[in-house]
Amino acid sequence: MSDARYAWTRTKNAVTPVRTMTGQPEPSDRRRTSPDPHRAQDFIVDVRAQLRRQGFAWVEGHRVARYVDLSGMAALIAATSTAPMDPYDPTRTRRRFHGRFVFEPGAGLLHHRGPVAYHQDRRYNPVDGGGSRWLPPLPAALACNPTLQSMIRLDWWCLPAPFRRSVAPMPVDVGVHLIAYSPTVTAPSRPSPAVLHKDGEPFTCVHHLGSRNVSGGESQVADNSKVMLFEQPLSARLETLLFEDERVYHGLKPVYAEGVGPASRVVTLVDFTPFFQPHARARPRWP
Ligand SMILES: [Fe+2]
Repeated sequence: MSDARYAWTRTKNAVTPVRTMTGQPEPSDRRRTSPDPHRAQDFIVDVRAQLRRQGFAWVEGHRVARYVDLSGMAALIAATSTAPMDPYDPTRTRRRFHGRFVFEPGAGLLHHRGPVAYHQDRRYNPVDGGGSRWLPPLPAALACNPTLQSMIRLDWWCLPAPFRRSVAPMPVDVGVHLIAYSPTVTAPSRPSPAVLHKDGEPFTCVHHLGSRNVSGGESQVADNSKVMLFEQPLSARLETLLFEDERVYHGLKPVYAEGVGPASRVVTLVDFTPFFQPHARARPRWP
């Protein structure tokens, strides 16, 4: 993988210098981030190596849990499980909050942006893309949730160093989707789109928070020829999948209700997009 693909520039009035990305010391973005990236060094190195080698990384939940503040986990799951229905889901089996943050890597600060429309190009999502989707906004109280915030920061540190270094001088757009798939006996719950696809955001991290009375729901990752590389449900708490959008497709198979009682599968998606357009994005490398 060439580091040059992480060189960014402004789309107008090109004034942003391209940073060098050849083993230079990390910029000052180590200062205020939590968890401490030094403490999580082995974990982070492993995730980055997986990302570099195969375009995605899978991590066991107990390993992620070591570096996430778990004090807000119960509140996060409870709030997501009772979130409003996704208005774009005709089956009424998908609950959802959508939030966006501005992340300042240098200062390690996360700023919640309040209600923001979700944009997805139609080429990425032929079902619901091509316009603005107004999804139930992430409540301010949840935006401050310590579990959510520590997941975002950990995810950031797991991204490839060349990408982070190229982005670090500028703020980063962080998208958060809290989703509860709530199938019924007669209606499985599906993502949007319910096929292998790309999202258009450079990196996305999927954290499984909890499931009860469900089956199916296998997470999928395929290479750019759509040859399947990974297909299994995330089942342990905080079991995590990270992927680089340009290098792989991803998907989720339908989630089915099973057994007695309410069925749900709760996940958090965290994506990172620089506010400045990368050169590489103008030349997509997938078919
Ligand atoms: Fe997606």
